[in-house]
Amino acid sequence: MLKPFAPGCAKGDPVIETAPTPRARVQAMKEYHPPLGCRDSLRLDFNENTLACSPKVREALAAISTGALTRYPEREPLELLVAAHLHLAQSQVALTNGVDEAIHVLFEAFLESSDEVLLPVPTYTMYEVYASATDARIVPVQAADDLQFPFESLLAAITPHTKIIAIANPNSPSGSMATRAQIVEIARRAPHAVLLVDEAYFHFCGETVIDLVGIVPNLIVARTFSKAYGLAGLRLGLLAGPVELMRWVRRVLSPYSVNSLALACLPPALEDTAYLDWYVGEVLQARADFETALDACKLRRWPSRANFVLVEIGARHAEFVRLMRSAGVLVRDRSSDPGCDGRVRITIGTRQQMQQASATLNQVLAAMKAQL
Ligand SMILES: Cc1ncc(COP(=O)(O)O)c(C=O)c1O
Repeated sequence: MLKPFAPGCAKGDPVIETAPTPRARVQAMKEYHPPLGCRDSLRLDFNENTLACSPKVREALAAISTGALTRYPEREPLELLVAAHLHLAQSQVALTNGVDEAIHVLFEAFLESSDEVLLPVPTYTMYEVYASATDARIVPVQAADDLQFPFESLLAAITPHTKIIAIANPNSPSGSMATRAQIVEIARRAPHAVLLVDEAYFHFCGETVIDLVGIVPNLIVARTFSKAYGLAGLRLGLLAGPVELMRWVRRVLSPYSVNSLALACLPPALEDTAYLDWYVGEVLQARADFETALDACKLRRWPSRANFVLVEIGARHAEFVRLMRSAGVLVRDRSSDPGCDGRVRITIGTRQQMQQASATLNQVLAAMKAQL
């Protein structure tokens, strides 16, 4: 209930008692509350870098002048830099306030009421969130129990109304991947749709289709600095696509949505490849060790190409997540994702962190067994 607006009202003015209502689609949206509170433990719940960004990025942050903070951020020079890094033209790249803003802007730019958004599921939650804020229809394409990319079903779901197809590659929470040939075939079979390939976890798998930007006319690729680079708090991402599509993205994108701090950190983040390589190498070794530990516990897991592993915990998934949290390790219950009942996603950090995670996992499983 809105309180009647009092200050400044003259006696006798009509009192407005009804609140303005948003669009029907917004009213119908589910609330989304990621479990962000109290995260001082070992953070294996959001697929972030679990350690730190490059020390060179810290130096750039420390060197920010107050003058730089008084000015509106200018992102074009940094778009030039990142485009060169990706062997693309500046006009093919737009920096965004994380990939989340990129998804939001892309959906806003392209989706109308008669359109369909194809989402292979389970997948990254924010595609559904932003699609449901538009008037388009969401068409989920369910993966089989192996959670492999549902290529044939996706092709079968393409219609003349398909306007956007969003593929996280590698996907979350499964860690599975669509092949390059599958992506090219989807783009070919849906020339009237934008094919968004979200490569948020690219550094952990090393496979990309960004070299096809401008060649495949309906392909747009997203990248983030939130994962391997360790800059989730700065909110920095990008879209790379053909000039003809990117011009519409730019119409909707705020010129100032990437702040000065994020822009200042971009050059050292890109330059310090030694740090990035070290962190990715560490995670890949830790993932192999942790998978061995999961196998020793006889827990079903899905093969992952990213910095996380999906694990079958079963009916007591909520208790498992709670006990892990109490023991200082945060993991993410994905049970409410389509086809993921009883499954928990565990981010991979450094080898040392994953040794702690394995020890905690063993203790928690033993405690749960003892309670049976
Ligand atoms: C597939 C995928 N895309 C995008 C994001 C979010 O990226 P950003 O932090 O750049 O908004 C995530 C985060 O978990 C993700 O899993």
